[in-house]
Amino acid sequence: KVIEVANQIEGGQVAFDLLKEKLEQGAKTLGLATGSSPLEFYKLIRESDLDFSDMVSVNLDEYVGLTGEDPQSYRYFMQENLFNEKPFKVSYLPKGNEDTAEEETAHYNEILAQNPVDLQILGIGRNGHIGFNEPETPFDSQTHLVHLDQSTIEANSRFFEKIEDVPTQAISMGIKNILDAKSIILFAYGESKAEAIAGTVSGPVTESLPASSLQNHPDVTIIADAEALSLLEK
Ligand code: GLP
Repeated sequence: KVIEVANQIEGGQVAFDLLKEKLEQGAKTLGLATGSSPLEFYKLIRESDLDFSDMVSVNLDEYVGLTGEDPQSYRYFMQENLFNEKPFKVSYLPKGNEDTAEEETAHYNEILAQNPVDLQILGIGRNGHIGFNEPETPFDSQTHLVHLDQSTIEANSRFFEKIEDVPTQAISMGIKNILDAKSIILFAYGESKAEAIAGTVSGPVTESLPASSLQNHPDVTIIADAEALSLLEK
């Protein structure tokens, strides 16, 4: 399902209403994402009376080589944008410790197996990545160590002082883990996402565009603005 919204504020509201519906239906585990696209959604949650203290969250990904206290880490992002005000019973993110990254991938798969996701939030990379699943990641992949694409490093360098500071590796849920979620919301805003969205919705299902795997999922809602939908055939 594709829902066109005027801007991120309206997109956040649409997603917030969908979240409330899922909570009423008994959702207990949320899959969360970082990036700028879900920010208005998190803001609405912070300002709401929703209570997550009996729920579990699992995040898509984390950089390798940054501690959870590093302001650039995804753990820090989630604390600031959601968890400080809306704590969950438990919030899992992959632990991006350089020395134990490989073991952490197996550990995180166990966590995901024990906590099936009811609603997964996603953004999308310019190259169609979801989580940090870069082009050519197999659709049956589980949590794995990722070498980030140069284009992703460049896109994410806007959050860092200089490009050399952007980590080159991350731990990410795999595409199979993402598709295991019962329902999925994907946010996409701006022209830079237009090509990826056109391929995601109406292009061939191909590992060269990770988000096209979502065509194989029965319950995906894409919330996007006119710019992100501009290359989509009506
Ligand atoms: C990063 C994250 C993704 C996110 C993407 C888009 O690479 N790992 O999970 O979806 O950026 O970010 P933004 O929403 O800021 O465009």
